[in-house]
Amino acid sequence: MEIEFRPGALVEQEVDTLIVPVGPGQELGDEAAAVNRRLDGALARLLADRDFKGAVGDTLVVPTFDRLPARQVVLTGVGAPERRGGGEIARAWSVAARAARDAGAQVVASGTPPAGQLSTAGSVRAATEGVILGLYRFLAYKTGPAPARTIETLVFAGGDAELKRGVALGEAVAAGVVLARDLGNQPPNALYPESLAAEAEALAEARGLGIQIYGPHELEEMGAGAILAVGKGSVHEPRLIHLTYTPQDSSRSAAQGSIALIGKSITFDSGGINLKPSGEGITRMKIDMAGGGAVLGAMSVVPSLGLPFTVHGVLAAAENMPSAGSFRPGDILTTMSGKTVEIGSTDAEGRLVLADALTYSIGQGAQALVDLATLTGSNVVALGEQGTGVYSNDQGLADEVLAAGRAVGELLWQMPLWEAYEGRLKGDFADLRNTSSRDGGAIFAALFIREFSQGVPWAHLDIAGPSWASRVTELSTVGATGHGVRSLVALLERRANGGAAGRA
Ligand code: BES
Ligand code: MN
Ligand code: ZN
Repeated sequence: MEIEFRPGALVEQEVDTLIVPVGPGQELGDEAAAVNRRLDGALARLLADRDFKGAVGDTLVVPTFDRLPARQVVLTGVGAPERRGGGEIARAWSVAARAARDAGAQVVASGTPPAGQLSTAGSVRAATEGVILGLYRFLAYKTGPAPARTIETLVFAGGDAELKRGVALGEAVAAGVVLARDLGNQPPNALYPESLAAEAEALAEARGLGIQIYGPHELEEMGAGAILAVGKGSVHEPRLIHLTYTPQDSSRSAAQGSIALIGKSITFDSGGINLKPSGEGITRMKIDMAGGGAVLGAMSVVPSLGLPFTVHGVLAAAENMPSAGSFRPGDILTTMSGKTVEIGSTDAEGRLVLADALTYSIGQGAQALVDLATLTGSNVVALGEQGTGVYSNDQGLADEVLAAGRAVGELLWQMPLWEAYEGRLKGDFADLRNTSSRDGGAIFAALFIREFSQGVPWAHLDIAGPSWASRVTELSTVGATGHGVRSLVALLERRANGGAAGRA
C-alpha cells in the first residue's frame, strides 16, 4: 500500500472511499458535517435510523450517489474525546480500512483524526498504524492468485510537516509490528536460530545498527550454560543475537544511560524431554520466539526515533527439542552468572535462556532491562489472551512500562513478586530450581528471572497470551500479533522525553 498526501479538504478528494470519524451521541465532526451537507442531511438521518453509537469498532459504509467525488464513505466510531488515545484511533482506523477493503475500495482518503488526548502528529501516526495493521495478512506460503480485494493507496488530505512526520513514524512503527508478525507466523522449519540471526543481520544492515552474533563456540567461552543446554537437543544450534543502537551524539549517551530490550526467542518449543502433549498447544509453539520478534520489531523503529541513549536488543535463540543429546530433568546447569540451576522440567526453558541473556546484557553495561517472553501458560490463565503480565524489581520502571502500554492500547497489568514465594526458588542440589508447583506459575517464573537482574532495574513482560490471536481482533488477524512492539517504542519515547510526554 502506498501512502500519499494531497492538498484540499477530505470531501473533495478524488478517491473511491473516504474514512470519516463519528463520535458518540451522533454529533458530527467537521468532516462528517461536510459529507452530511453534500447529502442534504441524509447522513444525519441515516445515523439516527441505524442507531450508530460512534463507539470504537463501529463502522458503517454509506454510498454517496455522486454527490461527492468519492463513491462511498466509511464512517468509523472514535468514542468519547477523553478516552481517545493512540490505541483507540489505531483500532478505529483499522476497522475502517477493513470495511473499506470489503466494500471494494482501492484508493482511500483520510483526514487527521479528531485529536482527543493526542497531538496532530500522534493521531495521524495512530491512524497510519491502524490501517497498515488492520489490513495485514500473512500470505508467504499461499500459492495461487493474490486476494482480489486490496487497498492500493492511502491518501491523507493535507501535507503540512507535522502530518507528514506523524505518518512517517506510523509507517515505521507499523513496519516494526509487521516484522514481528511475519517472524511469528513463519513456520519453525523456516525460522530457527540461525535463520533468525540472518534476519537480525539483514535488519542491522538496513537500519545501521551494530550487531554481534554468538554461536555455540562463543557461548561456551562466555559460560552461557543455560542457552547451550536448552539448544542441545536440536539439530539447529543456538544463537545469542545482540543489536546495538548508539546515539549520533554519543557524548550524551553516558549522561542518558542505556536500556536493553531482551527477547525470549525459542523458535520452536516442543517441551524437550518433558514433551508437550499433542494438540493445539504444541502446534502453536512456533510463536515462542515472539519476545525476540517484538525486540527486533522495536529495534527496527529505534533509528527513526533520534533517541539520546544507547539501546541494546538481545535475543536468546534456541530450539527446544527432545533427542539423545537433550538436557534432561535432573540436570544441573551452570548459568553465565555462575549460579547453578537444577532442572525440574525441560519445558521451563524460557526462564533459562533469559537468565543468560540478562547476565549478558548487564555485562554490556545496560542500566535498565526489559524482557519480553512467551513465558507461561499460567499468565494466560490469569490475564486472558490479550493480557500481558508485568513483573518488575523497580516500581519506577514498571510505571513507565505500564504508561507506555496505556498510550498505545496494549493491555498491560502489573503482577506481584511476593517475598513469601521466594523460598520456592531454592534447589535441593543447586542454587535454584527452574520449576515449582503449578500454582502461581507465572509469578514463580518471574521470580526466577529476577535472580539474574543483579539489582539493575528490570521489567519482565509475559506475553504468552497476547503474542498470538486465536480470533480476529480489531488490530490483528488470527496468528502472530507483534504485540509489544508498540509499547516498547512508546517506552523508549517516554524515556527520551524524560518520562513525561509520551507519544509524538
Ligand atoms: N512457551 C511456553 C509457554 C507458553 C504457553 C507460550 C502458552 C505461549 C502460549 C513455556 O516455555 C512453557 O512451556 N511453560 C510451561 C512452564 C512449566 C513447565 C513450569 C507452562 O506454562 O506450562
Ligand atoms: Mn516450554
Ligand atoms: Zn517456551
